[in-house]
Amino acid sequence: MPERNVYLDHNATTPLHPEVKRSMNEAMDLYGNPSSMHAAGREARARVEAVREDLAAFLNASADEVIFAGSGSEANNTVLNLFTCNTECPRKGLEGRDEILVASIEHPCVLETSKCLRARGLTVHEIPVDGTGKVDMDALGARISERTMLVSVMTANNEIGTIQDIRPIADLVHRHGAYLHTDAVQAVGKIPVDVRDLDADFLTLSAHKMYGPKGVGALYVKKGVPFCPFIRGGHQERGRRAGTENTLGIIGMGRAVELRRREMDAEAGRLRALRARLRAGIEAHIPDPRFNGHPEDRLPGTMNVSFPGTEGEALLLYLDFEGIMVSTGSACSSGSLDPSHVLLAAGLPAEAAHGSLRISLGRDTSEEDIDYVIEKLTAVVARVRAMSTVYN
Ligand SMILES: Cc1ncc(COP(=O)(O)O)c(C=O)c1O
Repeated sequence: MPERNVYLDHNATTPLHPEVKRSMNEAMDLYGNPSSMHAAGREARARVEAVREDLAAFLNASADEVIFAGSGSEANNTVLNLFTCNTECPRKGLEGRDEILVASIEHPCVLETSKCLRARGLTVHEIPVDGTGKVDMDALGARISERTMLVSVMTANNEIGTIQDIRPIADLVHRHGAYLHTDAVQAVGKIPVDVRDLDADFLTLSAHKMYGPKGVGALYVKKGVPFCPFIRGGHQERGRRAGTENTLGIIGMGRAVELRRREMDAEAGRLRALRARLRAGIEAHIPDPRFNGHPEDRLPGTMNVSFPGTEGEALLLYLDFEGIMVSTGSACSSGSLDPSHVLLAAGLPAEAAHGSLRISLGRDTSEEDIDYVIEKLTAVVARVRAMSTVYN
């Protein structure tokens, strides 16, 4: 048995906030279908619409601009697939355009979907990032054209935490008559996100990254922006996403948003201080660390660090043995031994990318946890390096 359990993988998912759990438990008996006209249905509808209002207010959107979805992945797929629909409105006004631009560090649910779009005849270009993970604005400026329909750039990266300058990107995209989508799954609930300030046309979020339940998210679609459903069937979500709403999940997400409003700012300050403590401990005890991502414009609780002469997977397993849960890349691509596409895109050599850990802090992380991690990580890195033929 490890001395302690320390969960530092909050970018993969977060535990339910106890208040979210309580709200969901209380809502367990709410069985009505929100589309039904009788009392049970009306009760469920009222709860769902209350969350839509709260979530919209949190994003500075209006309620009819929010569509509930089954996940962040689904919302991202919805936006990218919009522009392959030849029969309905989304392509109106975009005649003659056949190109989509995505940042090279996007989440796999954007990158893999864009590969499909390429196979279906669209032109897709990946826009490079600089060494800190920020989108290369010169490359974007050179690539965007009157052929571009959509540009997709994430608000904050899940692996290195770099926060993009979305507003200037939106301005550039709009000057070219195209639409901007931002995947804000890692940003919403961690840093302030205001859709009017960002001027995004589409924005994706997911409840389980902010102490809400898994399997529920939302898509913001700016009023007047063309849209067609990805999932077709019933008329739920005003015809924009078929499928009976996940009432319980939506209620949990609503409570999570309410709590984020109260807790987010204070938590961000606390996490920055804890991350600084972790960094200082690593620098004091472990030779040659390399910290990845933007030095300032970064999610408060995210650290990505490489230890030359190690394999991230070995570090992860030894740390797990000590009760410390971290990640080597995005959770979705763990299981694969390919180096992280994000670190490679930010210019890390494959060898350094292989020896990297993502350590993501959260609302329960304490100073004692950080001190325990420094102690164990120091020993684990030394042990893995001692076995390395490259480092010695
Ligand atoms: C940046 C980003 N986008 C999208 C997703 C997918 O969200 P979901 O797990 O809700 O499908 C994730 C999850 O890891 C993510 O980090």
